[in-house]
Amino acid sequence: NMQSIISRNGLETPEPVKAEVKGSVPSWLQGTLLRNGPGLFSVGNSEYNHWFDGLSLIHSFTFSGGEVTYRSKYLKSETYKRNIKADRIVVSEFGTMVYPDPCKNIFARAMTHFRNIIPDFTDNNLINIIRYGKDYYASSEVNYINQVDPNSLETVSRENYRNHIAVNLATAHPHYDREGNTYNMGTAIIGLGRPKYVIFKVPGNASGMSLKLKATSFKYYTDALVVFHHINAYEEDGHVVFDIITYKDSNLYNMFYLHNMTDETDNFINANKEFSPPFCQRFILPLSIQKDSPKGTNLVTLTDATAQAVMQDDGSIYCKPDTVFKGMELPGINYNFNARKYRYFYGSRLEWSPHPNKIAKVDIVTRTHIEWQQENCYPSEPVFVGSPGAVEEDDGVILSSVVSSDPNVSPFLLVLNARTFEEIARASVPVPVHMDLHGMFIPSTGSQESS
Ligand SMILES: [Fe+2]
Repeated sequence: NMQSIISRNGLETPEPVKAEVKGSVPSWLQGTLLRNGPGLFSVGNSEYNHWFDGLSLIHSFTFSGGEVTYRSKYLKSETYKRNIKADRIVVSEFGTMVYPDPCKNIFARAMTHFRNIIPDFTDNNLINIIRYGKDYYASSEVNYINQVDPNSLETVSRENYRNHIAVNLATAHPHYDREGNTYNMGTAIIGLGRPKYVIFKVPGNASGMSLKLKATSFKYYTDALVVFHHINAYEEDGHVVFDIITYKDSNLYNMFYLHNMTDETDNFINANKEFSPPFCQRFILPLSIQKDSPKGTNLVTLTDATAQAVMQDDGSIYCKPDTVFKGMELPGINYNFNARKYRYFYGSRLEWSPHPNKIAKVDIVTRTHIEWQQENCYPSEPVFVGSPGAVEEDDGVILSSVVSSDPNVSPFLLVLNARTFEEIARASVPVPVHMDLHGMFIPSTGSQESS
């Protein structure tokens, strides 16, 4: 059943295995889908408590001449090596303290870390794959990143942000510009003061990290919310428009405790009735505000917008978002439209359950969506890859790694037409594949030159 595939330990497939392709993988699709996620949930007799604690298992689907190969390797982080050597879990994770304090939830524990000037974090970088310059790193929301060879999946070396820049940790979800530079946000925690956010830029053509600070002259605020993922942001006629996935509380984290995730489905649904679903919300910040702008009225002047920004008596701006869609997570876009006005985003449908079993495409203009699903199948975060020379935003394919709880259905890499969500091909592999979190498509150099 579904529960059995969530927390089972993954197996490495260190040598590439050929997939059996049904349908036709486009010949222009050349490169590697490199992905990350938790793969090992117990070491010796000790087990992790939380799904986000599992040890990183990196895997890849490589596309060449219509053929697909698969491989996977555990990230050889210091955390992995220490745990394996001890044959038990000896490094604390966010949801699993080696000396558990049951009175504290994940957030309380994180704050304890912060207040104590942060002991060393785990380097189990299980969340995402990021690119700095020409190098690829496994990442999580800590001070360490581990470089990974995208072909062999070998762990190359560990980097500590703190040796480069005055931050205590940085996000696992940076952004990139068209020149190949990477932008990320770090958090600097000094004593008992309020944490400071630091935006930094890593040049695409050189090593080293540099500071880049940005200040605004008005204070924008909204109701309290929890955010894990941003969809896109852009400027339009003197406004900043940004779309994010929001929750009204942090219940989602609690759902990912393994004792919840491996519970019988009926119990799980009952226990998580209070789950607050993800909302895709659009915020619009007008930039051309003056101190004498009228108070109490909406200052957003974009004609097709319903999000509002209203100046309060104290001069701050209260932002009321527009809910674009409900029940979608792990968002992705055609990245050529990053920081530009765009129409479509892709993601995993997430309603009552933390196990996404559908992927979908949302049209922000019409507020409609289309879906792909198959019984007993769990597709990963969808990744958009554009057709060569594409002009239309949705001219391309969607890639998703799919695992099934049906033992008769092998794991497969799904290729959809991004416009229609019709299946173009699936590449089934004869080895185990784990459920993952995030990743990126790395075009092969040859196909970049030809496109
Ligand atoms: Fe994430």
